[in-house]
Amino acid sequence: MFTAGIVGRRLAHNRVTQTRRSISRSIPRLSEAIFNHRDTPYNNPKIPFEFSAENLKRAKEIISRYPPQYKKAAVIPLLDLGQRQNKGWTSISVMNYVAKVLEMPPMRVYEVATFYTMFNREPIGEHFVQVCTTTPCMLRGSTEILNTVCEHLGNIKPGETTKDGKFTVIEVECQGACSNAPMFAVGDDFYEDLTPESTKKVLDAFSEGQKPKPGPQSGRHTSENSAGLTALTEKPYGPGQHCTEEFR
Ligand code: FES
Repeated sequence: MFTAGIVGRRLAHNRVTQTRRSISRSIPRLSEAIFNHRDTPYNNPKIPFEFSAENLKRAKEIISRYPPQYKKAAVIPLLDLGQRQNKGWTSISVMNYVAKVLEMPPMRVYEVATFYTMFNREPIGEHFVQVCTTTPCMLRGSTEILNTVCEHLGNIKPGETTKDGKFTVIEVECQGACSNAPMFAVGDDFYEDLTPESTKKVLDAFSEGQKPKPGPQSGRHTSENSAGLTALTEKPYGPGQHCTEEFR
């Protein structure tokens, strides 16, 4: 009876603790908003698309890397080729064309294009700015960088394009350059070690039609220690020598 009372109280306590525990989760994104396609004047299957002669040559070379019965394995590089030719976005016509070239059901291509976020299914601006806001970048100021980008481009929000069509900004997950955080990508290039000032400089250069030098904007060459060398500061001793100069 006594034991049962304690157990009962513990269970009741656990139930209270469980109800109190807050669960954090991201805002649900309705699948309808992500995966549906509705024909629009700028994105419908009647708009013709086919590879340029040069891209057709590239596509044939890509397809030749796979056994003929598995040529659908080329779907990602071909979609990428199509997206690049189509000013940075993958329209329904691009997807249908890739399906035709690879002799795949179009639905299989739609599945790939909607799964990978690198395929933009809406038009983007001339310069596609992808600001990383994952933890290492966030700890080193990515929120300020994202705000600077949005404000500097005329108070647009992530996901929007500037009125002149020059820039589209989005937030992305880790881009693998955490040792040079915070960073963003513009097109295929990474701009790293950003501050609000260097962020504005990079954007201004793009606005003026220049291509700023990619990589760290802090003066670092790559991802070397910004405090200078702290290890391997002496000439290493050579083969057969077992101590440094000083002890020889
Ligand atoms: S967290 Fe930003 S590049 Fe890795």
